[in-house]
Amino acid sequence: MSTKSRPLDLCLERFRAVSKAEAHAFFAPGRANLMGAHMDYNGGVVMPVALSKGTYALAGLRQDGMLRLESMQFPGEVVEVPLAELKPGRTDGWSSYVEGGLWIAMQRWGQLPGLDLILNADLPMAKGLSSSASVECVGVLLVAKLLGIKADVDEMIHLAHGAETQYVGVRCGILDQTAIFLGEANSILRFDCLELSREHMPLDSAEASIAICDTGVARELASSAFNQRVAECTRALTIFQEQIPGVTCLRDVSHEEFERHIDLLAPALARRAQHVIDEVQRTREGSAALRRGEVAGFGAQMTAAHVSLRDLYEVSSPELDAMVEASVEVDGCYGSRLTGAGFGGCTAALVHPAAQAEFEKHVTQRYAEVTGRTTNIQWFAPAGGPVEIEV
Ligand code: GLA
Repeated sequence: MSTKSRPLDLCLERFRAVSKAEAHAFFAPGRANLMGAHMDYNGGVVMPVALSKGTYALAGLRQDGMLRLESMQFPGEVVEVPLAELKPGRTDGWSSYVEGGLWIAMQRWGQLPGLDLILNADLPMAKGLSSSASVECVGVLLVAKLLGIKADVDEMIHLAHGAETQYVGVRCGILDQTAIFLGEANSILRFDCLELSREHMPLDSAEASIAICDTGVARELASSAFNQRVAECTRALTIFQEQIPGVTCLRDVSHEEFERHIDLLAPALARRAQHVIDEVQRTREGSAALRRGEVAGFGAQMTAAHVSLRDLYEVSSPELDAMVEASVEVDGCYGSRLTGAGFGGCTAALVHPAAQAEFEKHVTQRYAEVTGRTTNIQWFAPAGGPVEIEV
């Protein structure tokens, strides 16, 4: 099957217009998380898929130590900076994600002699589909390939995660970079963020398609609310640790222990902790259902997770709620929830293929009635991870 696609062709065309260097092409997908919301930095289990859309990068070596960078999503904004001058805090603009990937990978494996780089994406930005992590991952991958390093996938995950936490400055967990690098066609990844164990659980495409429904409202991840949730969980954990020996993360706290010590927590902290502790159980039940081949059982846990994200973790929005409510009204929709951090962006739903047309019709209409907004619905099957593409 040809891996050529229109966004890649456009990117290559632009590259050839501005660079004489030999072109090397790379792609890294986005992701949708189906279960395990806000669990990665709490030591829980996450269950994402990689998407067939993401970030394309056209890269070529130059010999003058400079980085010349363009993104087709930000026409006219050319970044020109010596590679040796990349450092955290240099910028907080769109280029920080790829700069972070290049910076951390070069710290690990050595400097490139100079780089011409053009990015193009077919994934909407700031919509909860990890467009930023896909840029970090493609940055790490291209440095490894151009330096001829045979990098281990876990090392690449770790580096791409470091690009986000150290260069961009968001205190995120390991979900996004793991989902991207370990993506496999037709399977949901089950990744235990504490034990680091992983399993690819089959999702039969005759049984279920993934609908990504865009609320049309973007979210700002780096801007405070996400880091605030991380800080709240850390505070709740500290309180539990004073009471319960051996607890290393919120995932370690049982329901009974939570009930016993709940009065020590301020109400908002208790709600955050309860979401995490319940979500541990939901991911357990969701995994068990999927193992039995019961997509409906898995979908029910997705919808329950959304209710908890709305009421306890408080990261939903009226638009996300309206989309989930409209989605689960359709016969053949197994479940739906916000995907990503929340605060806007997209929902993910699992839908029987025979119900796709009805799903599109009903959700589009209901969502418009309730919110006055239009939605965009795209269909996906779980896809593979980052690749170099022959050009
Ligand atoms: C964002 C973060 C991830 C994860 C999710 C919520 O995508 O980058 O690390 O915490 O939110 O599940």
